[in-house]
Amino acid sequence: MKTAIEIAKVDHQLVVRLNQAWTRRATVCSPDKALVSEAFDPARPDYPECMVPFFHHPKFQALSEELKSSVLTWGWIGYNLRTVTAEEHVVNPALSVIANQYLGKDDWHFREAMQQTLIDEHYHTLMHLRAIERTREDRALDQNLDLPPSVTYRRLVALRETLAEQWQRDLASITFAVVAEISVNAYLDLLADDQTIQPQNRRVAELHNRDEYAHSKVLAEVAKVMYANLQPSQQAFFTQTLSVALSAFVAQDYSMWEAILTQLGVDAAQQIIADTQERNKNATIMRDYSGLQRLAEDLGISDAIDFDFRPTLKTAAVA
Ligand SMILES: [Fe+2]
Ligand SMILES: [Fe+2]
Repeated sequence: MKTAIEIAKVDHQLVVRLNQAWTRRATVCSPDKALVSEAFDPARPDYPECMVPFFHHPKFQALSEELKSSVLTWGWIGYNLRTVTAEEHVVNPALSVIANQYLGKDDWHFREAMQQTLIDEHYHTLMHLRAIERTREDRALDQNLDLPPSVTYRRLVALRETLAEQWQRDLASITFAVVAEISVNAYLDLLADDQTIQPQNRRVAELHNRDEYAHSKVLAEVAKVMYANLQPSQQAFFTQTLSVALSAFVAQDYSMWEAILTQLGVDAAQQIIADTQERNKNATIMRDYSGLQRLAEDLGISDAIDFDFRPTLKTAAVA
């Protein structure tokens, strides 16, 4: 294995600095940061109206205020559930494989960064599980909706099922985790900056986002070290799968909203979803892929990536 020092374009010092600052910046190291002074206000939405892709659809606007509020509450719960799935079933297993199999014994600072990141991610799961419980209590929810996992996760599961070798399945999860970690900030920014929603909900996103700013930097450097440690056939597989992962994160996905509308008994659910799909068919999902474009350039694999980065640099509508 090459040591990190030998690999071109790896910013070793950046990782050292981030590691040293971990106890000061990481949410898990100061859990009281999650406390907010503002009390729960039932009139405030749980999730931003502007992030509901059909909020202005006349059939949705015609619903009672109570039902509209419930849709936003379940949108918030669904977002938290999907985050927990991503952390527990994609990011954590993938980071663990990187840490234990794809870093050499001389890559200490990268190993240290991975362990810190894993601790952050486990804490994020706890934060989002708590957010769900708190919301259920605040809104006195006794109902349980059956919400589907994201299209991104479904695509990873389907891809893994086609792969014969364990190292291929591991690398598939790693590419999805790398894309998630280096592009999630744009979405979290929207939630973290939204002043219309419950302050406690905004705070969860803000704290998660702060950690992810560090993770995106760490993962870009770790990915370069890992890539240098792969065999040529594994490098080719990584490059090919990276294109699949990039596409999976910008795929249109209204399955959660459709489940929410249908299960809350909205008669026009199908029409609202169909109209929204039609209206947004050319829209780009909120992802900032500039960090991944840079990573591909640093790895020297840009030409082999089957993905057009251009539209996602100017992010548009949110699904
Ligand atoms: Fe996270
Ligand atoms: Fe992360």
